[in-house]
Amino acid sequence: MPRVRPVIVVANWKMNTTPREAGDLAGRIAAATNEPDVVRVICPPFVGLHAVRDALAGTDVQLGVQNVHWEQAGAYTGEISAAMVAGLAGWAIVGHSERRRDQHETDERIGQKMRRCHETGIRPIFCVGEKLDERESGRAEQVVRSQVEAAFEALGPVEWPAHDDDATGGWLVVAYEPVWAIGTGRTARGSDAAEMAELIRETAGNAMPREQAAALPVLYGGSVTSATIGEFLAEPALDGALVGGASLKVDEMAGIVARAAVGARARKSAGPVS
Ligand code: PGA
Repeated sequence: MPRVRPVIVVANWKMNTTPREAGDLAGRIAAATNEPDVVRVICPPFVGLHAVRDALAGTDVQLGVQNVHWEQAGAYTGEISAAMVAGLAGWAIVGHSERRRDQHETDERIGQKMRRCHETGIRPIFCVGEKLDERESGRAEQVVRSQVEAAFEALGPVEWPAHDDDATGGWLVVAYEPVWAIGTGRTARGSDAAEMAELIRETAGNAMPREQAAALPVLYGGSVTSATIGEFLAEPALDGALVGGASLKVDEMAGIVARAAVGARARKSAGPVS
């Protein structure tokens, strides 16, 4: 059955906030973004998870992590697995470009991380996106397509939960984040990001049930603020945002989620996609 895709806003706090600051900020963001039509997820640093969970108790804002390991346990000093955070966090960012760059994460490892998330009932927010030289040389589509294909190959066959069961959009979420737009103040054009979202669904449809690929939420990420979010949410192909820098500011999050709520209500009244 065709369905209305949800609108999702994910806060990625990166390596910011002490546990005390994280709890305080999460509580203030939850109070300022009380929009049940928008799925809201906060991803603090691991050490802030308990404080943020406590601060979000009684709200419908959900908790995520910024990474998980590709194995569930073992001799991996300093690492944290999906099994360790299951029950605490419902979501995990995987394959963020900063980790691809700094920790040399490969598409294969990222697919394995998605599998670990699947085993533990965590929903991955799977990040893809091209670098500036790749866009300038006309290879952006090819790069993103191959990131999706390679990660799905490493993920291997999984049972895709029936999307009708889940008002927040099935198991997987993809974030299209052009690397040159992250933390730079420069955003992609809404129309370019929308084209990429369609390409991601089409590519995913070769590795998962087509009907569920059509319902796959695709977020835009890269310098999203309350001033720029509108351009992305005006695109029916885009289903929200992964927000970095601006997600540390209560007013910015309030503005972003308020705009997202307008989009979510418009979608519900317009009816199912495709
Ligand atoms: P930014 O980060 O909003 O600060 O550009 C986005 C991200 O890295 O997910």
